[in-house]
Amino acid sequence: MGNVQEKFNEFQRGLGTDISPTWRDLAKADSKPVPGFLTQENAPNLGTAKIPVDRYTSYDFHRQEVEKIWKRTWQVVCREDEIANVGDHFVYNVADMSFLVVRSAANEFKAFWNVCLHRGRRLVDESGCGAESFRCGYHAWTWDIKGKLAWFPGAWDFPDVDAEKYSLREVQVGTWGGFVFINPDMNGISLAEHVGSMDKHFQNWPLDKRFSLWHIQKKINANWKVTMEAFLESYHVVQTHPQALSSVAEHGTQYDIWDDGEAHYSRTITPTGIPSKHAKNGTALGAIADVWALLNALRADVANTLPSDIHDRATISEWRRKTMKEMTGADYSKLSDAEMLDSVQYFLFPNFCPWYGEGLPLSYQFRPDADSPDTCLFDIWMLIRSPDSGAAPPAPKTIKLGPDDRFEPHIGAMGKIFDQDDENMPFVQIGLKTWPGDPEGLTMARYQESRIRHYHQILMKKLSQP
Ligand code: FES
Ligand SMILES: [Fe+2]
Repeated sequence: MGNVQEKFNEFQRGLGTDISPTWRDLAKADSKPVPGFLTQENAPNLGTAKIPVDRYTSYDFHRQEVEKIWKRTWQVVCREDEIANVGDHFVYNVADMSFLVVRSAANEFKAFWNVCLHRGRRLVDESGCGAESFRCGYHAWTWDIKGKLAWFPGAWDFPDVDAEKYSLREVQVGTWGGFVFINPDMNGISLAEHVGSMDKHFQNWPLDKRFSLWHIQKKINANWKVTMEAFLESYHVVQTHPQALSSVAEHGTQYDIWDDGEAHYSRTITPTGIPSKHAKNGTALGAIADVWALLNALRADVANTLPSDIHDRATISEWRRKTMKEMTGADYSKLSDAEMLDSVQYFLFPNFCPWYGEGLPLSYQFRPDADSPDTCLFDIWMLIRSPDSGAAPPAPKTIKLGPDDRFEPHIGAMGKIFDQDDENMPFVQIGLKTWPGDPEGLTMARYQESRIRHYHQILMKKLSQP
């Protein structure tokens, strides 16, 4: 017994109280069976090593990432429904590169380097719909939507140009969970290998059967990793999102990590619907109820406000099962309280966060948006389960925000939370540039910040590869 206790103390995974148990304990008390893969814990002790600061600030480090990560990995471009019809296309920029992804036939996507093969102008400036061809704005060289050179003026003067050789330069393209991915490395691994066994976790939670309520993209003046790391732990909730403490037990969050061949992924499950042990104002569910009301607002005829006399997780879940059913027509009766309420967020190396469950049905992606370590793009999708019968609404246009724009005017209660996160990130970047602390780098918690440490370990492994 002594040994077991010592072992647990040696690596404590969360700290519960009577009022605010850990997610592990809540799962045992769930009013329905919780799927086994959610209760399966996988939290290796990754130690307490510091994270060197130059990984966030150095241009050289950024260039290594461009060469070894961004040119070689699978990355999300958009949802399939954002390019729903033949000729619809999406311009995807990462670091100093630009790619063009097009629905080239009803069930076919193609992706190319977005560069004209005459003298190198960026071929397409903006995403768009229904294109029959892509014409360069400089000298009018024109490619069809399958990437074949279709026409160019003065062909008589280009004896060395033939259409076959001048097809747009392709990159790998694939889909998973309703997302369109590309990988610039034509010799790289398949998307299935990249996703690996994380796919099993989503087998009964098909993200492709969801539609985007909104897609918002914000430019943030911070390194992509600084920004992403604000979303890989719940430890910041106490200070950054104080209004959430009455309904989010951040300290009881479960953190899990997996490596499966080429797939590297992790997960947080944050209990919702009970107060944090740091909460000062009891069990008011205000902040999270506002977010759920936002989801229900899809149908004006469905009551979307959580009744104020409901406090315990089982009753809140039952209310959500009922209102969500009224809204989508789908059957939620078998879903556990955990799946109806909690924040279950996955992370797939290097930069993609698909969420599981109805608690917060989001997805994120983070990437450098210029040839610089100091700015990034943060994409967020709110994914609602498609109605069981009838068509899902068409994808909305991406809302693009600059560094000084706020989320709240566009996405309400949810936006307020992102604005709070955004009030930290640029100031982290500023602080890191004159880091006065331990020369070895930043300090990370052993458990609550283990997902950050894990992906840094994978990142350094990739950067050391030839
Ligand atoms: S650079 Fe594109 S047509 Fe000349
Ligand atoms: Fe946050």
